[in-house]
Amino acid sequence: MLEQAKAIIEQNWRGGFTIPTSRLYPFQWMWDSGFVALGTSLYDIEKSLTEIQSMFSGQWENGMLPHILFHSETEKTYFPNFDFWNSQVNSGAPNKPKSSGITQPAVFGFVLEEIFNKHHDDPKVFEAIKALYPKVVKYHRFLYNYRDPWNEGLFFIYHPWESGRDNSPIWDESLNRIEIDFDRLPSYTRRDIQIADASERPTKDQYDRYVYLMELGKSYDYEGKEIAEQSPFLIQDCMMNAILIRSNEGLINLGSQFGYDTEEIEAWQKTSRTNFSKKFWSDDLGTFVSYDARINKQILHKEIGGYVALFANVASKEQAKSIAEELESIKNRGYFLCPSFDIDSPLFDSKRYWRGPVWPQMNWMISKGLDNYGYSDLAKTVKEDLITLVSKLGFYEYFESNKSDVEHLESGYGGGNFSWTASTIVHFLTD
Ligand code: GLC
Repeated sequence: MLEQAKAIIEQNWRGGFTIPTSRLYPFQWMWDSGFVALGTSLYDIEKSLTEIQSMFSGQWENGMLPHILFHSETEKTYFPNFDFWNSQVNSGAPNKPKSSGITQPAVFGFVLEEIFNKHHDDPKVFEAIKALYPKVVKYHRFLYNYRDPWNEGLFFIYHPWESGRDNSPIWDESLNRIEIDFDRLPSYTRRDIQIADASERPTKDQYDRYVYLMELGKSYDYEGKEIAEQSPFLIQDCMMNAILIRSNEGLINLGSQFGYDTEEIEAWQKTSRTNFSKKFWSDDLGTFVSYDARINKQILHKEIGGYVALFANVASKEQAKSIAEELESIKNRGYFLCPSFDIDSPLFDSKRYWRGPVWPQMNWMISKGLDNYGYSDLAKTVKEDLITLVSKLGFYEYFESNKSDVEHLESGYGGGNFSWTASTIVHFLTD
């Protein structure tokens, strides 16, 4: 299995970076890239560092790190491609590589820390990480400067694709509120449903709204400040902010190694940590939830993003216990961990994208989180469940979560030979 995983990563390597999977996602995706670098760092450190350096070659002058880098401009099989994003509307966006205009979870702070901890004796790794460090800080500064107009230390997103959990039901209500002026919606042709099964992908209504929000971002040069006033979709996502907090911690720990001043990061971290629970904890649901900043309300659904607070060490002992109990009960009710959405909700769909299936990289963060709070048996289940799914169904993008359904299946869902699936498996089997 380990050899197979490495072979998949090799197959998806494009001389400098790794694509998530051929056909469906033929470019470099931001958080995928971080998870792939974690995996490759365990057996090919050069490749791992190159992956991250390639990602930062697309960083904007304002610090933004785009969710897709279109290293190839001749690959025409993807929508929305670089010409549709037209990130050049922002004068600080590099001309090469071209990029999208939105971001994704801020994984690089913790990724660099993980890699550093394993290789700190290697002077080449030391120097490479020392050089990447200020770029990660610059990215975090972007989030705090452009995406936190309320100075709460909890930044907003204005597009569901930024969250990494693209069509989770948690976005439904906020998206449905958007009134689209169809005369102003550009015409477009989806590619995803030509490649993957439409029943596993977002609906047309959802997709129109994705394009609408893209256009909105573009009309403000993708820079954030006016977007906060104008966007009908304005969310403080609990998972994105948990990951940022975990990455801040990584930067604070690394800073002392390199002799960097970490005062600025510590100030961000203090505000973020103070407000995280206040804003995101729901006593009624016993978990962390995201916040719709447009209507000033919590988004009251149980979902996988809430568990990531454990990975960021930002939950109290009682909060962690409540989440661990929830996972334990999901497990006992016949599901592989961790289903991406509340199995009791009518919106749960164990097949469709972020509406119920298991996602490999999530298991990596959640198992670490459970370990942080002493739930090591559960952490082990989270790892073993993914190994079981991959060995039965293959290295797919995501997986059926219902155990009795898995018995009748021969493959996973979405793209095959998937990089983050392979790299998470490398991690679980070697680390
Ligand atoms: C999908 C996922 C997103 C991921 C991308 C590439 O859009 O929702 O999280 O980064 O695919 O794998």
